[in-house]
Amino acid sequence: MGIVIAVMCHKGGAGKTTTVNSLAGYYAQSGYKTLIIDADEQASIKTLFSMRLSNADGGLASILIDKLMPETMIQKTPYENIDVILSGGRKMKEFESKAFQDQSCLTRMSTLCNGLRSRYDIILIDTAPAIGAISVNVVSFADYVLLVSEPDLLGAMGARSTEQFITKEVGKDLNLKIPKILGVVFTRFDQRRAADNNAIDEMDTYASKGHLGGGKVFEPIRQDAKIRTAQARRKTIFQYAPKSNAGVDYANLGQDLLEEIKITPKGKPSGLASLLEANP
Ligand SMILES: Nc1ncnc2c1ncn2[C@@H]1O[C@H](COP(=O)(O)OP(=O)(O)OP(=O)(O)O)[C@@H](O)[C@H]1O
Ligand SMILES: [Mg+2]
Repeated sequence: MGIVIAVMCHKGGAGKTTTVNSLAGYYAQSGYKTLIIDADEQASIKTLFSMRLSNADGGLASILIDKLMPETMIQKTPYENIDVILSGGRKMKEFESKAFQDQSCLTRMSTLCNGLRSRYDIILIDTAPAIGAISVNVVSFADYVLLVSEPDLLGAMGARSTEQFITKEVGKDLNLKIPKILGVVFTRFDQRRAADNNAIDEMDTYASKGHLGGGKVFEPIRQDAKIRTAQARRKTIFQYAPKSNAGVDYANLGQDLLEEIKITPKGKPSGLASLLEANP
């Protein structure tokens, strides 16, 4: 069975979409069948893969609102091993108001999308810089969360408040199943900047006290102009410049995440574990 990793941070521009896109590129080229679900009405994944919704009513919005089967919403990207379910854009807002009146909407994603696990090794969810019914759905569906942050004070606060949202608001207040928080990765890191190093040190201290839901601080992703050029060319960093700083860093992150997931006490994801054994 495939595993579901949500990439989250309520702060805008933290690097969520870039991280989802880059990890998908890494896992796909490593041979894992990868699905990206875009849960953000900004629909950035559509832009990055230069795609259009194949069905006017398509995307995650239609799964959530009209209960359409997720399998019918899968679209192929130009890249081997990467499929996507696009977001449905502004229609996502309709779901937010619907869910406000009907609490059963809060777990609709896990109810409807669970079957996708048998088709993919890894499902990555790109999320919006906002809290709402869609974020609750994402959290209750995902097995793991990776928090993404810029290496500064406000970025770190954004990651911490997302962690609180998961553990307190979804876990305790709504009493829903929550994913394991794998930790935080800082993006656009520049080691010459003292503020960047401070942000990482502070987060390390926070994590070592067990505050990050047991998660850790991953090695940061360096600032790299090649990320933007790759995106402008509608490629992941692995198709455009795999040996660039960001390419190397995202490959390390992809590997680290797999190692974390393998040792999780929640149980090994068997499909993935056997793949890992076959391709160490
Ligand atoms: N390592 C990096 N080096 C240079 N630029 C980067 C890097 N990571 C991300 N960026 C750039 O930073 C900007 C914001 O990144 P991204 O869109 O991934 O953030 P986001 O968290 O998804 O934003 P939103 O909250 O709006 O969804 C983009 O222009 C992206 O190209
Ligand atoms: Mg984004």
